[in-house]
Amino acid sequence: MKFDAQDCLLVKKTKLTQTIYDFRLKNADLAEITKPGQFAHLLVPGKTLRRPISVCDVRDDIIRIVFEVRGEGTRILSETEEGSMINMICPLGKGFDIPKDKKVIFIGGGIGVPPMLYSAKTAGSNSIVINGFRDKSAVILTQDFRDIGCRLIETTDNGSYGIHGFVTDPLKEVIDSADMICACGPTPMLKNIAAMAKDHGKECFVSLEQRMACGIGACLGCAVGIDRGDGSLTYKHVCKDGPVFRAEEVIW
Ligand SMILES: Cc1cc2nc3c(=O)[nH]c(=O)nc-3n(C[C@H](O)[C@H](O)[C@H](O)COP(=O)(O)OP(=O)(O)OC[C@H]3O[C@@H](n4cnc5c(N)ncnc54)[C@H](O)[C@@H]3O)c2cc1C
Ligand code: FES
Repeated sequence: MKFDAQDCLLVKKTKLTQTIYDFRLKNADLAEITKPGQFAHLLVPGKTLRRPISVCDVRDDIIRIVFEVRGEGTRILSETEEGSMINMICPLGKGFDIPKDKKVIFIGGGIGVPPMLYSAKTAGSNSIVINGFRDKSAVILTQDFRDIGCRLIETTDNGSYGIHGFVTDPLKEVIDSADMICACGPTPMLKNIAAMAKDHGKECFVSLEQRMACGIGACLGCAVGIDRGDGSLTYKHVCKDGPVFRAEEVIW
């Protein structure tokens, strides 16, 4: 497979919270082939290694990414001016395979919420979305999810907005109504969701985050332990074989 790096025009930049940015990047060719749950590998000026950011949404020729400033790379990225070009390799990885005929619960935790937007939009208004945040100041994309027309449930850890608790609290109430669960967020959250899905006999897919270097399966930098199906261990690349994996095959 050939991986092309392409320049994308930053047409709109919005600051969603103190630390989270929303970029709309124009590139018709990439927008056309990008699927929910895939990611872009962005070149950051002055950095050798690209930074992986999930695709939040695709509309016409625009790819939208939403990212949090965590370190130097994302800080530099956040300072990009509208009208500038950002070089990225996209789409990368295997995303969510969303069947049209199933009722899906999408669950996002913190900065794992953005990739759920394109995924839930693809599934349609029959889906349920549960998004969880640390507190009110971290809540993002509420109106975007409402616009899909799906049932939206929001939680905060401290109760300052939405339901007081973790995403797994409202999940208990709705899990039996769904055929499938797709989730992205912190590892402890994914691990608990995977356990609940197993208990309730529901198919579950999780999007894993791992530090990455090449992003294309060439460096072994993003290996994750996977159960071969018989209890024995193998390793897969989060960048190439994932980031979405069947929850039951992940060794937590
Ligand atoms: C497939 C994938 C999709 C992602 N999607 C998004 C997204 O949609 N929005 C978003 O905000 N972030 C996303 N991330 C995380 C993002 O790539 C990192 O936050 C970013 O690379 C940090 O770069 P930095 O130079 O700012 O920080 P660095 O200086 O490299 O590190 C700063 C801090 O961030 C932590 N960190 C760095 N890389 C990662 C990582 N890959 N996962 C977890 N923690 C990390 C480090 O432990 C460190 O504490 C994604 C990561 C992956 C692997
Ligand atoms: S980041 Fe190089 S193999 Fe995945």
